[in-house]
Amino acid sequence: MKYHQKVIKTTNYPIYIGDNIYKEFNSYLNHSKFKDSNIFIIVDENTKTFCLPSLQENVEKIKNAEIIQIKSGEENKSLRTAELLWAELLKRGAYRSSLILNLGGGVICDMGGFISSTFQRGIPYINIPTTLLAQVDASIGGKTAIDFYDAKNQIGLFSDPDAVFINPDFLSTLPYRQIFSGFAEIIKHALIKDANYWKMLKPLKVLEISDWSGLIFHSIVIKNSIVKLDPLDNNQRKRLNFGHNIGHAVESLSLKKGKDTLLHGEAVVVGMICESFLSHKKIGLPSAELNEITQILMEKFPPYSIVDTKKEDILQLLRFDKKNNPRVLNFTLIKKIGKALINKSCSAEDIKESIDFYCSLCNKNI
Ligand code: GLY
Repeated sequence: MKYHQKVIKTTNYPIYIGDNIYKEFNSYLNHSKFKDSNIFIIVDENTKTFCLPSLQENVEKIKNAEIIQIKSGEENKSLRTAELLWAELLKRGAYRSSLILNLGGGVICDMGGFISSTFQRGIPYINIPTTLLAQVDASIGGKTAIDFYDAKNQIGLFSDPDAVFINPDFLSTLPYRQIFSGFAEIIKHALIKDANYWKMLKPLKVLEISDWSGLIFHSIVIKNSIVKLDPLDNNQRKRLNFGHNIGHAVESLSLKKGKDTLLHGEAVVVGMICESFLSHKKIGLPSAELNEITQILMEKFPPYSIVDTKKEDILQLLRFDKKNNPRVLNFTLIKKIGKALINKSCSAEDIKESIDFYCSLCNKNI
């Protein structure tokens, strides 16, 4: 097995990446303020089976940690699950100097960060992301949240973890849909900030990638360089929202429907295609680049079904997206591959046209 070990320093916390991060993790726990902390680990049924055993086997300090299990799936990133987690922490005696480890994908990192940061006004937490999506995106940047009613991430706060430990070995336990979902965010990083990275990603066959550590590292460097300019997402961090306006709306509607639910990255692929169309129409993304992006995305990802989705429902959700002022629908668009621009307003008609564009690529109408 190849061995990579890298550390990225963000403004407030370190991110360790390696095929074997346990040595680093042991040393961190033994030498940090968490030396004597009582530790709680949040898992779901998948990470309990596939990831927890190797962590427990290799990290001395967590052998006696309390395990709190929740159900996997975006539909469980809810107030109800948050209440359950707070109740368990209270019952099992968590207090201000306890430590929470979030062992899971985007749901566990987002929600675990939220419940840690609100329980007793905040107890420290460490993310140990286990999906590709969480390794390149959700576990870093300090955005924590739960979903509320039908909208994603409505209740939450900015609160950094104390550290992030990334073990790319965990990816071998994932179903292929989860790998594609994370790869969508990697593609987004290239489209918004790094044309050379895009060139490198284009020929890759996702299911043939056996060593993810280089891509994870590069994507985190891009995300971190953007987050540090604007940690609270008032300005330049919005570049990371490319594909996420329409993507979030499509994802929320698919969750509401409750069957054939799209994963986050799958919805972001739909969003990136629609928003590349908007980029062409509104800010002059060259047609050759629009064609290249759509061709590559349609080649790499299957066409995702949004046939049961109504354009009006997408618009309605966009109006209530926390990224928007309800009267002006603002988007992050790309001027060219590798360069994103924020706050570009689009009309309802533009948006409908972009959805028709995606549907025409899938030979479907909605
Ligand atoms: N996932 C987008 C961000 O962290 O800002």
